Amino acid sequence: MKLNENYLDLKESYLFSEVAKRVNAFQGENPDKSIIRLGIGDVTLPLGGEVIKAMHGAVDEMGNADTFKGYGPEQGYDFLRNAIKDHYARNGVELDADEIFVSDGAKSDTGNITDLFSKDNTVLIPDPVYPVYVDTNTMNGRNIVYINGTAENDFLPMPDKSIHADIIYICSPNNPTGACYNKAQLEEWVAYALENDAVILFDAAYESFIEDKNLPRSIFEIEGAKKCAVEFCSLSKTAGFTGTRCGYTVVPKAIKAVSANGTEMCLNKMWLRRQTTKFNGVPYIVQRAAAAVFGEEGMKEARAMIAHYKENAKIIADTMEECGVRYFGGINSPYIWFECPFGMESWEFFDFMLHKIGVVGTPGAGFGKNGNNYFRLTAFNSKENTIEAMQRFKSMFA
Ligand code: MLT
Repeated sequence: MKLNENYLDLKESYLFSEVAKRVNAFQGENPDKSIIRLGIGDVTLPLGGEVIKAMHGAVDEMGNADTFKGYGPEQGYDFLRNAIKDHYARNGVELDADEIFVSDGAKSDTGNITDLFSKDNTVLIPDPVYPVYVDTNTMNGRNIVYINGTAENDFLPMPDKSIHADIIYICSPNNPTGACYNKAQLEEWVAYALENDAVILFDAAYESFIEDKNLPRSIFEIEGAKKCAVEFCSLSKTAGFTGTRCGYTVVPKAIKAVSANGTEMCLNKMWLRRQTTKFNGVPYIVQRAAAAVFGEEGMKEARAMIAHYKENAKIIADTMEECGVRYFGGINSPYIWFECPFGMESWEFFDFMLHKIGVVGTPGAGFGKNGNNYFRLTAFNSKENTIEAMQRFKSMFA
């Protein structure tokens, strides 16, 4: 047996596993210490009433011989795909239902989509960014080229025409920086992708946090994007589904490429083939719950959850202002990204903050080298905990 040696090129553990390991070790040694977790972006509010009602209804259906469901369509039930299609249409984007694939979340899909691309592709990845893109392409042994997100470009790197790329990752609103591309910037990215015959893998997991009406919530608001972009969305942060697991990926039928022997290949068909082979679909109960999010009441509940987290984001941002710490994000995003105080590097600041004030965040270095001197706090917590964490934060400057 020979193992995939590309795994030797990965860090020992996944970023959030490393954070959890350090926090658990510290809590083990200090059982009485109160720790506030603003590290991984995990929701804290319970599922909305509409979602729970739909879930209960689906549970009852599963307990009745007449309505019981076995295997479902791997790409999702029509009722959910149509609800998602209508949701896009309300935002001015027309899709066919069979361009929408229901999944257990954007993390799995952004990783799994790499199955469809040859190892020979050059992958363009912004730094800093969600570590799944780098780790999954490293597992496949692909050549990765980084583009720098820095304070100078507001963490919104733009295409460098002197570099050729085949696969381009964009995360907007960005995890971890909270930066969000505007329409003109995304137009440039789409033009660059079309010129390079490249595909954009557009992670829109945080689109529901966009409050500026002028900012695009979907790459498909940009002309030409259906020829070159795949979009990943998730109900995790939109409606509190981190533990329930449901997301969706849009693979337009217009994305095509020609194989070495001249056969035309269609990405949508390949993804369907991949999913029907390797995935048995999201549970019926969860899909019914997800469909409830797209109803009028479900959307209202989701918006109320987002408003709650946004209030926390403001509390954190205000604290940064007060402490004179330079920060980014927090407006169209649940994340606040700031320069590590006291001239520390990010893992050093992680340990310092954990030991001194019992607050957990995520070290910027975990998102790429440009994050070495940055740190991320999440707004996903209760208001009380956020206020308490920020009081403790201020005490470090006293
Ligand atoms: C994060 O904290 O970056 C996210 O929660 C991770 C994820 O969504 O997988």
